[in-house]
Amino acid sequence: MAAQLEPVPETPASTGLTLEKLECKMDLVYNWGYESTRQDLRDLYNKAKRSHWISEETLPWATNVDASKASWPEHFHPLFGSDIFKKLGEKEKTALNVEISSWLLSQFLHGEQGALMAATQLVASVPDIDSKYYAATQVFDEARHVEVYDRYLHQKVGHSYPVSPHLKTLLDLILKDSRWDMKLLGMQIMVEGLALAVFGMV
Ligand SMILES: [Fe+2]
Repeated sequence: MAAQLEPVPETPASTGLTLEKLECKMDLVYNWGYESTRQDLRDLYNKAKRSHWISEETLPWATNVDASKASWPEHFHPLFGSDIFKKLGEKEKTALNVEISSWLLSQFLHGEQGALMAATQLVASVPDIDSKYYAATQVFDEARHVEVYDRYLHQKVGHSYPVSPHLKTLLDLILKDSRWDMKLLGMQIMVEGLALAVFGMV
């Protein structure tokens, strides 16, 4: 008997909607004392203040990009090893490479948006002032990551894909969790870990 595939849940992005509200409950923490209690984070905050980068100046946007030359390892293709894959010609493999590249980069883009929102939540929910300052620098950093992936996808690759329902589930879990340490763990270890693994592979 053929295995039953679970239906892939629809996401607003996959149905063409661009805005989605997510109800998140979390405690916001004021810190009226403003005492510096985390020198390591204060040092990182000071370092971040001095090393901000501007995407228009830092990245060579005039570089011509041939999306068909994106090279992913062949075994990375979801159909690798199947009869369908074996029948593909070089032209079809190249076309698929462009789509895989666009799909993967789109997931990076959506993951960065999740990171941007998680970092904003951290600013509000972490108790000590040095952590708030440092999380604020991360908000700015993540905004540039979103900006750069979006620009690259739409100017160089030409098209993008909606968020994967599985990535969306993970982002929702992180953003809806009321505990700031779970947000930190989810974004810095799970999502960044996934991203690093993909970077490593390509
Ligand atoms: Fe990021």
